[in-house]
Amino acid sequence: LDRPRVLSGIQPTAGSFHLGNYLGALRQYLVLQDTHDAFYMVVDLHAITVPQDPAELRANTRVAAAQLLASGLDPDRCTLFIQSHVPEHAQLAWVMNCLTGFGEASRMTQFKDKTAKQGMERATVGLFTYPVLQVADILLYQASQVPVGEDQRQHVELTRDIAERFNGRYGDTFVIPAPYIVKETGKIYDLQDPAIKMSKSASTPKGIINLLDEPKVSAKKIKSAVTDTETEVRFDEEKKPGISNLLTIYSTLTGTSIADLERTYEGKGYGAFKTELAEVLVEWVTPFRESTQEYLADPATLDGILAKGAEKARAVAGETLARTYDKVGF
Ligand code: ADP
Ligand code: NA
Repeated sequence: LDRPRVLSGIQPTAGSFHLGNYLGALRQYLVLQDTHDAFYMVVDLHAITVPQDPAELRANTRVAAAQLLASGLDPDRCTLFIQSHVPEHAQLAWVMNCLTGFGEASRMTQFKDKTAKQGMERATVGLFTYPVLQVADILLYQASQVPVGEDQRQHVELTRDIAERFNGRYGDTFVIPAPYIVKETGKIYDLQDPAIKMSKSASTPKGIINLLDEPKVSAKKIKSAVTDTETEVRFDEEKKPGISNLLTIYSTLTGTSIADLERTYEGKGYGAFKTELAEVLVEWVTPFRESTQEYLADPATLDGILAKGAEKARAVAGETLARTYDKVGF
């Protein structure tokens, strides 16, 4: 069992994942469960850095877990759990908070971006130290790789700095993790505004495909996606961002190369292309949605899977925390 260990967390906040989440993150999780010793968690501790309704948070956390399972994560091939079920995250985070410089934390650009929008008065201290909780998340599992988008790279850098600092001060304790940036993961853009990425916060309802929506609704969104005034189905992100985005979606859902798709749709126009992509999407999303609903309809099974996941996670996290506390002088 020499497979490199990876850790990744996904927010439970939206209820339904969107197509960008699936193609950019979940699909990657699936690949890594066979090549790596993978730990995946639904990060409900991170979710409360902004206000959450308790009942909604609890429900959305389960919906997120059900979707991870529906996407094909296998609890026997990876460790899947809910962050708050493993108290070691919060416990290690305190130690890491005390090793992080205030100025260092202040340089995290995500916090600056978020407070620039909502104002400093409404920001919580939790939002400020969120990257330090992430440091603890990663170090608890001695993960050597962290699959992240470009926007999270700075947080992995912080993790490396803190891990090195701890190791230097208290003796070798933590594996120094590296970011695992997935190159071929296409970014998925908004269907109505391909200049921005598909996102739960920025997209309008017509611009985003939510995986738990009625498939008919999603098919309609594909058919009314913004394209351009030409007719040629050709990949050109600069001149034809709308069609290029649809080609990326088509290609990643079917495993057909973009070049092959361009050949298939030569001379056929956008209408036929969109209609068939809508069919591809419906065919893929229907069983995904049904499977998610099955997990949610059987709370005992879902609870059992998550309890087992938390137990597997705690076996690793508990050991790391005990060693850390010992070194710190507790
Ligand atoms: P959102 O941007 O909708 O808030 P998150 O930030 O919660 O989504 O992202 C969760 C995961 O999904 C991350 O790994 C992120 O990189 C990925 N992701 C989100 N949106 C997209 C997108 N449009 N294209 C590709 N990957 C995406
Ligand atoms: Na985001």
